[in-house]
Amino acid sequence: MKAVTAFLLVLGYLALSDAAWNCQEALRLSSAAQIDAGHGRVVVTTTSRYPYTLIGNSWYRLTTLRFKHVSVGPAGLWGSDTSNRVYKYVAGNFLQTRGPSMQQVDAGGDDQVVGATTSSYASCLISSSALAYSRLGYLRWRLNTGLRLRYYSCSPADGCWGVDNRYRVHFVESVAPSTCTTANRSTVTGSNMKMVEVGTDGKVFAVNRLGNVYQRLGITNRRRQGTRWVQVPMCMRIRHVSWDLGKLWVVTNSGLIMKCTP
Ligand SMILES: *[C@@H]1O[C@H](CO)[C@@H](O)[C@H](O)[C@H]1NC(C)=O
Repeated sequence: MKAVTAFLLVLGYLALSDAAWNCQEALRLSSAAQIDAGHGRVVVTTTSRYPYTLIGNSWYRLTTLRFKHVSVGPAGLWGSDTSNRVYKYVAGNFLQTRGPSMQQVDAGGDDQVVGATTSSYASCLISSSALAYSRLGYLRWRLNTGLRLRYYSCSPADGCWGVDNRYRVHFVESVAPSTCTTANRSTVTGSNMKMVEVGTDGKVFAVNRLGNVYQRLGITNRRRQGTRWVQVPMCMRIRHVSWDLGKLWVVTNSGLIMKCTP
């Protein structure tokens, strides 16, 4: 059944020939829920909340701990579990940290880690704390005052993007890695997004509440928040996306993982 679905998806892309995206089903993992790709690595959580990583032709389960969200990037591999505790992957195991309850964390920044607390406060862990964390201990997250987010994602050099509880998109031009100080925050119009992810190269993709995928276009050095959202056509409703090294990784509402190239 799923093979048929994947085939129909591919047909769907062919039908939309003006949209130059090409998607195919990635290596099968049953019931994917969330995906993050960074530095060539791919991590996934399933609807049973187990985290997996892709190595060669297999998905490997990283632990029997259950995670809401995992993220891989310059700051390493981080995740928040189903009780909103934050973990860093150290020496082949998830090492628990103490600190605020986080519903989501992101390791894609310039060695800093950002995230959203369970009360939807944007938070940030300075790069020296994030990189050095290797033994059980307390992590002092800094609140980005006045920024309320349920989802927060950073790139090393092209700023950070987030979504608040009213599904509005926020752009932060700069989060200083050594201090977590933010500069030039703005709200991006016309959104209604569930999640937004910025890749290492600064490309930005989002999923709206209907499950449609959008790319942010018009991003230039002078207009770093870009100018418009352009839909990336998909034949199924999408739950989650992540962009890395020229590939858009897509998780459908039905739990399939697709790999798309523009
Ligand atoms: C904030 O925006 C101003 C005006 O566009 C720009 O000159 C400045 O470099 C930006 N600051 C940071 C830290 O990005």
